[in-house]
Amino acid sequence: MAARLLPILLGVTFCINVNANYTDPSLGPGQRSQDLLQRLTWEEKIGQMGGIRAAFTSVNGTVRFNRSAFEEIRLKENGQIGYGRQANWAAELLPIMNRLRMEQINSSRLHIPYIIIADSVNGLWFSGGTLFPGTSSMASSWNLPLYEQVIQASRDENMAMGINWVLSPEVDIVKDPRNGRNGEMYGEDSYLVGEFATKYIKTMQEKDERGFYKVATTIKHFVFGTGSGGINRASMAGGLNHILNDLAPPYQKAIKEAQPLSLMASYSAVDGVPMSVNKYLLQNVLQDILGFKGLIMSDANAIELLLNTHKVASSRKDAARKALSAGLKHELKPGGGGLFTELSSMSGDKDVVALVDASVRAFLEIKFATGMFDLPLPTIENMQSTLRNPRHLEINKNITRESIVMLKNDDEFLPRTKSNISATGKIAVVGPYADVINAGNYAPVVLYDPRYGDSFLSSFQKVLGKDNILHAQGTSKILPNYDDDAQQQDEAAIAAAVEKVKEAGLAVVILGSGLGNFMPNTINNDRTDTEGWSHPDLGFPGAQQQLLDAVLDTGVPTILVMSSGQTFPLPNSTFNRCRAIFHSWLAGEYTGSSFVEIFLGETNPSGKLTVTIPEHNGAFPVNYDFLPSDAGGGFGTSLAYDWHWPQLTRKAPLAFGFGLSYTTFSVSSVNVSVSTNAASSNQSVAIQATVSNVGNVSGKEVLQVYFRANYSIIERPVMKLIRFEKLEVDPAEKKIINFDIPIDELGYFVTGDWVVERGNYAFWVGTSSRYEDLRRVELVI
Ligand SMILES: *[C@@H]1O[C@H](CO)[C@@H](O)[C@H](O)[C@H]1NC(C)=O
Ligand SMILES: *[C@@H]1O[C@H](CO)[C@@H](O)[C@H](O)[C@H]1NC(C)=O
Ligand SMILES: *[C@@H]1O[C@H](CO)[C@@H](O)[C@H](O)[C@H]1NC(C)=O
Ligand SMILES: *[C@@H]1O[C@H](CO)[C@@H](O)[C@H](O)[C@H]1NC(C)=O
Ligand SMILES: *[C@@H]1O[C@H](CO)[C@@H](O)[C@H](O)[C@H]1NC(C)=O
Ligand SMILES: *[C@@H]1O[C@H](CO)[C@@H](O)[C@H](O)[C@H]1NC(C)=O
Ligand SMILES: *[C@@H]1O[C@H](CO)[C@@H](O)[C@H](O)[C@H]1NC(C)=O
Ligand SMILES: *[C@@H]1O[C@H](CO)[C@@H](O)[C@H](O)[C@H]1NC(C)=O
Ligand SMILES: *[C@@H]1O[C@H](CO)[C@@H](O)[C@H](O)[C@H]1NC(C)=O
Ligand SMILES: *[C@@H]1O[C@H](CO)[C@@H](O)[C@H](O)[C@H]1NC(C)=O
Ligand SMILES: *[C@@H]1O[C@H](CO)[C@@H](O)[C@H](O)[C@H]1NC(C)=O
Repeated sequence: MAARLLPILLGVTFCINVNANYTDPSLGPGQRSQDLLQRLTWEEKIGQMGGIRAAFTSVNGTVRFNRSAFEEIRLKENGQIGYGRQANWAAELLPIMNRLRMEQINSSRLHIPYIIIADSVNGLWFSGGTLFPGTSSMASSWNLPLYEQVIQASRDENMAMGINWVLSPEVDIVKDPRNGRNGEMYGEDSYLVGEFATKYIKTMQEKDERGFYKVATTIKHFVFGTGSGGINRASMAGGLNHILNDLAPPYQKAIKEAQPLSLMASYSAVDGVPMSVNKYLLQNVLQDILGFKGLIMSDANAIELLLNTHKVASSRKDAARKALSAGLKHELKPGGGGLFTELSSMSGDKDVVALVDASVRAFLEIKFATGMFDLPLPTIENMQSTLRNPRHLEINKNITRESIVMLKNDDEFLPRTKSNISATGKIAVVGPYADVINAGNYAPVVLYDPRYGDSFLSSFQKVLGKDNILHAQGTSKILPNYDDDAQQQDEAAIAAAVEKVKEAGLAVVILGSGLGNFMPNTINNDRTDTEGWSHPDLGFPGAQQQLLDAVLDTGVPTILVMSSGQTFPLPNSTFNRCRAIFHSWLAGEYTGSSFVEIFLGETNPSGKLTVTIPEHNGAFPVNYDFLPSDAGGGFGTSLAYDWHWPQLTRKAPLAFGFGLSYTTFSVSSVNVSVSTNAASSNQSVAIQATVSNVGNVSGKEVLQVYFRANYSIIERPVMKLIRFEKLEVDPAEKKIINFDIPIDELGYFVTGDWVVERGNYAFWVGTSSRYEDLRRVELVI
């Protein structure tokens, strides 16, 4: 075999003088990784088991690259590399990364390239890409085809930066409204989460014309659940039925239909066993029951936590060995000092050697499968034509328009025409979230940069003219614990906002959680949500509720817009007095402008809640798919799902699946039957329903199907989503929708076995999870 040429990298051709199978692109990733593995020294193998997630930092246009720190890490941990979070723009970052990658190919004995691993929630984790809204926002569109377009765009932007492995999708189920990471998640229903996550994985992992996966994905965090108090790394209870039925369905679907190449173990101790050493869940459950075959990696610093936090390891070596034995094959350790480097002293341990070989083979296989040994490094030219290209921006606008949820619209208060505005006078746009793009932690950090689109305020100003818009921030800080000085500042700021509102004919108040003190140019802003933060109180942090009450007290008609990855209970004094209410979730660059389109009726809102909004601070969890007995405890009638009777019911009115439109839809002619496939003799449930637009404007509705078996072996939720479809219907138009549900999908796990109940079922078809929005039909299967 002749010496092989590695691809041309930035104009330099590398000559590899090895006649080795691993350099042969005609062989498969499995064969190539096996070949390379046997050529590696023990130290080189250990080196592949970690990497440098944040290779360099950059702030305010200056890249800070500490060469000696970098080299120190690179010596021992050189499997992957990452940009980390960056304050600089893509064009400044790519040449540096390309240089580091080239150096690595040059200097490593067998010319083993890095693979770039990156977080990708709203798109790129640095500036210069298309800024999509957060995951909770995009899920609120309930529009899977549109989401697929978003992920294609995001995938191509990642690839244009050389990123071929993302640390997404996050399939954790939203059950606790205090959790600061809820905005990174799709919602409270495991079926919906599975649909979005599977679409994400399929789209990212699409193969190119040469058969290389475009971008490898990491489904995460296995497994993270309820009972954690909203704390990201907290422990949870771990009954097998709970894990498999309530938390694992997105994994089950994604593994079956999309084969994510990797998976991240969660930080949680489940039933006392931290996931990084939880052999039972990572092997017996994840691999044997759920069928996962890819690579399992640690969460950032998680192996170190075994030692320092969980205290289930006596030394760095002990932690490394336990994690490896449990099934972890790769370590994420952003700042170096990885614990898997300790394995270098264990080359005499046969068990460790076998596990290291399996780990490195699996890791290299992903590098081969994504073309890292064969594809050229990305060029600046391709980056410039890919990032923020007009098509990506248009897709972003399209999904943002559908991601805002209208929760109330009194007497068709909205939309407002421009003539309404000239008649009623100026609009006061107030609140601490009026003039920021509240995109969440996994978004670029230079969001105050005017190149990054418009806030609510600047969108109103652009469309209606600066002279027609009044503004006041209304609170000085929004941190929950603030001192007397801050309180005085807030009182003054609220008074100033009230003056503006009194001058106006209409108030739009934008409140929420996220960025804290709004100081530009700081990476670690004070925050009230995001990873590492949680809400001690479900209300609006700081003095925001006082601001809203003061505005409502003026009697000026008021629209409330919530901006956050989280939900806020709305007391009656708020709900009843606001004329219209929206949740806009974590923003993208078009959230402000899309809201103004909705305000003016140019866009008809079509977002639907993917999480139920609690009615009260203590009234959670409030997920719609509770168990029948979870509604007990009060002395109400058993029909009403009483909970803390008589104050509350388990069915909160702002429920999962709910969202308003400017038009009215009616669902009729719901037919359900069992049909048998002639070829396979498999049975499925066929559902047909008619959706009519009985209002006066075109709109989009999400038809939702829920079900429950009358009896089951273990207690099952009062209802579960099983299908949904978003459709556009014109006034006076009717659309007939068909769903086909293989009956196997109606099953559930009982201590690890999949059971499909025969007998009586109820199906509900309609426009939200609220009984009043659903048609119920029964069926015998
Ligand atoms: C290289 O690949 C060829 C073709 O698959 C195979 O016949 C040969 O045994 C391989 N060589 C090594 C050293 O694995
Ligand atoms: C970045 O620049 C701004 C002014 O443009 C300055 O206020 C800020 O302190 C700088 N931040 C850092 C970390 O240098
Ligand atoms: C660079 O990293 C080294 C550790 O390798 C550290 O001692 C040094 O202070 C760092 N230099 C700067 C400028 O941060
Ligand atoms: C890589 O090696 C080539 C020679 O093979 C050399 O020309 C080039 O400068 C090196 N590049 C880096 C970034 O080390
Ligand atoms: C955006 O949505 C509009 C309206 O549905 C559609 O016509 C257009 O093709 C969409 N744009 C892209 C890039 O898909
Ligand atoms: C807004 O203006 C339209 C006509 O443009 C009018 O029909 C409607 O009644 C007005 N609404 C309000 C609330 O003033
Ligand atoms: C809240 O208002 C609704 C009517 O809008 C009423 O039915 C309900 O009883 C009120 N709840 C409380 C706690 O006052
Ligand atoms: C569905 O049911 C309705 C009323 O029960 C009936 O009028 C309609 O024809 C049925 N549609 C189909 C396709 O069977
Ligand atoms: C029939 O159902 C079984 C069990 O769910 C499934 O494995 C099989 O793929 C199905 N066959 C067809 C043709 O759908
Ligand atoms: C639709 O418009 C007609 C008049 O154009 C009006 O009478 C009717 O109330 C409107 N219907 C709805 C649902 O807004
Ligand atoms: C199924 O249960 C519901 C109550 O949830 C009951 O109304 C219905 O009669 C039952 N159907 C059958 C066929 O048992």
